[in-house]
Amino acid sequence: MSPSAPAIDLRSDTITKPSAGMRRAMAEAEVGDDVLDGDPTTRRLEQRIAELIGTEDALFFPSGTQANQTGIWLVAEHGTEVLLEANAHLVHYELGGIAALSGAQIRAITTPDGLLTPELVRGALRPASPHVPRITALAIENTHNTAGGVVLSATAYDGLMTVAREAGLGVHLDGARLWNAAVAGGVPPARLTRGADTVMVSVSKGLGCPVGSCLGFRASRRARAWEIRKRLGGGMRQSGILAAAALYALDHNLSRIGDDHANAQRFAELLSDSTSVRPIDPQSNIVMVDLLRDGDTAEAVAQRLAQAGVRLAPWGPRRLRAVTHLDVSRADVERAARIVVETVR
Ligand SMILES: Cc1ncc(COP(=O)(O)O)c(C=O)c1O
Repeated sequence: MSPSAPAIDLRSDTITKPSAGMRRAMAEAEVGDDVLDGDPTTRRLEQRIAELIGTEDALFFPSGTQANQTGIWLVAEHGTEVLLEANAHLVHYELGGIAALSGAQIRAITTPDGLLTPELVRGALRPASPHVPRITALAIENTHNTAGGVVLSATAYDGLMTVAREAGLGVHLDGARLWNAAVAGGVPPARLTRGADTVMVSVSKGLGCPVGSCLGFRASRRARAWEIRKRLGGGMRQSGILAAAALYALDHNLSRIGDDHANAQRFAELLSDSTSVRPIDPQSNIVMVDLLRDGDTAEAVAQRLAQAGVRLAPWGPRRLRAVTHLDVSRADVERAARIVVETVR
C-alpha cells in the first residue's frame, strides 16, 4: 500500500461517516423540539424501532451508554445486584455507571466464551437471606463485543429468560449489535428480545449513523424512561436531524449487515495463512486476532500496522480487534489481511 493511501480502519464499526444519501435525509428532516412538544421524525423512528425489536414503545438516545444506563436504572433496584457476563460492555466500558447512577452493584459471571447459560445464571443466584444483597436484574449483551462479536442464539436467550423469570429478575438487553445477532442467527431482531423489560439497540455502529441508540420498553415505562434520560442530559431538541439518519439507515443499511459478516469471515480466512497471528473464527462482524510470536505486543503491532496502512484496536496485551463495517469493502479487508500477514512475521 502506498504511504499516501488512506488507512483501512478496522478499529470499530463506530467510525463510519454518513453517506451522501444519509446527509441528504438529515438535511431534509422535518423537525420539532423533542423536549418541548415532540419531534415528528424522532417519534417516527421510535415507533419503527419499537416495531422492529418487538417492544411496545421506544425512546431515542444520544448514545448506547446512556440508553444502557437508563435501561439498568429502570430494571435494577437501588442497593441490589445486577447479574452480568464478566466482560460485558456494562461492566468494563461505562465508567461504573451502574454503581454511580442506579446505585446497584455488579455480580459478574465468568464464562469461557462470553455466553451466559441458564446453569451459570442459576449458579450466581443467592439464596434469600437478610445478610446478602438481593439480585434484581440480569443484563445480557448480544452480540458480545469483547468476546469477539459472539452471538447468543434465540434458544440460548430463551433459556436465560426462563431462569430470570423464575428468579423474579428484571432483564435488560444490551443489543448495541442486535442487528448483527439477528442476521447471524437468521431470525428477526424481535425474536431475540422476547420478554426483556428493556432493550437497547444502536444505530451508530453497523447501521452507519453518526449518533444514536434507542431503548425499547413497555408503554407504561415511557414517562419514567423519559425522566431518566432528561436527568442524564439526554433530552435533545431538533433530534429529527439524527433520527432521519437512523430511518435512512434502516431503509438502506440494515439489509447489508450480512456483507460485514462475510467480510469478517474473509479477513479471518486470509489471516489463517499466517503463523504469526491467529484469528478467532468470527460469528458476526468482529474478528479477534491473537499474536503468536514471543515479544509481539498488541500496542506495538497496532502501531506497526497503522504505519503500514491498517488500523486495528489493541484488545488485551496480545490481542487485536478488527471490526468490519459499512465503510470497508471486500477488497479493503483482503488488502488489510495481506498487510497484516506481511507486517506481523
Ligand atoms: C456492546 C456495547 N454496548 C454499548 C455500547 C455503548 O455505545 P455508545 O458508544 O453509543 O455509548 C457499545 C459501544 O461500543 C457496545 O459495544
